[in-house]
Amino acid sequence: MTNRDITIKIQQLAYDELPADAAALVEQARQATFRSYAPYSHFRVGAAILLSNGEVVTGANQENAAYPSGTCAERSACFYAHAQYPDARFLKIAIAARGTDGEFVTEPAAPCGACRQALLEYETLAGAPVEILLAGRDKVYRLESVRSTLPLAFDSF
Ligand code: THU
Repeated sequence: MTNRDITIKIQQLAYDELPADAAALVEQARQATFRSYAPYSHFRVGAAILLSNGEVVTGANQENAAYPSGTCAERSACFYAHAQYPDARFLKIAIAARGTDGEFVTEPAAPCGACRQALLEYETLAGAPVEILLAGRDKVYRLESVRSTLPLAFDSF
């Protein structure tokens, strides 16, 4: 028998430690939370993707009375980004969330499993790691890649 460990690297940064491009992307994700449509959960998520063509595409969760028909911020952003700019590579994604009290969450919100799977596809297409920035109220978690968030990913058949 062999025991194997998978570890994931997370950097925690204060806002004033963020490089300018990361800070700008995080701000776009924070602003995108105000375009969330979340009348059911009241949990407002925003995502901002920086593309290799310099464009930033944002998304926000869109809920629906038929619950499963809604979608997360990350998937609204990544599907739109690739539909709009199919030749551009994903470079970074920032994600921010506001809780039911309307305030930005203290502990950064991480993408759900389905969003990790969706984002992984675009990281594979990019051929290079896509940095993830998870924005909390006073701190940001920086992850080096989507793959690091999805151990033992399903990515081929
Ligand atoms: N949500 C996201 O937008 N991204 C995630 O990764 C997790 C959850 C949304 C879906 C739903 O509209 C609300 O947050 C509560 O789950």
